[in-house]
Amino acid sequence: MLPKKVEEILNLQIEREDYSSQLYLSMASWAENKGFEGVSNWLYAQAEEERVHMLKLVKYVNERDGIAIIPGIDTPPSDFGDVFEAFDAVLKHERFISGSINDIVAVCIAENDYTTQNWIQWFVTEQIEEEASVKAIIDKLNLLGKQNLYMFDRDIMSMRGEGEASAE
Ligand SMILES: [Fe+2]
Ligand SMILES: [Fe+2]
Repeated sequence: MLPKKVEEILNLQIEREDYSSQLYLSMASWAENKGFEGVSNWLYAQAEEERVHMLKLVKYVNERDGIAIIPGIDTPPSDFGDVFEAFDAVLKHERFISGSINDIVAVCIAENDYTTQNWIQWFVTEQIEEEASVKAIIDKLNLLGKQNLYMFDRDIMSMRGEGEASAE
């Protein structure tokens, strides 16, 4: 049985993963309208991944005799400036999510829930990978500069690691 506080913070994380998914979906649609096919494919795939994260949490909470709550989600922004600003926003959001996963670990320890503490390690590792992959994208963007956004857009999907979800 899940301690109440762990159940609550996992439900908060369900909401945050769901929002991440909607945020990246909105960014994908924005990029698609701007003609950035590669960037939009990357973001559509990322939105799918975040939905998988949300589902993982839903299943775990229910499996441990908690009650997963499917949230209503705030409408995400629809304008992201330019590609540089959009990826800065992705990194900022991923750092926020890493902090939020860290808070879950802290609650698990405070509540002596070592089972969830162990289970949540998958997300800890996932956040390291996500931050690193977004940082690599920003490095590449800075390297190529504004004049080479066509090349960047053409190459970005090749920067997704193996096994990462694709929207195709
Ligand atoms: Fe996630
Ligand atoms: Fe993420």
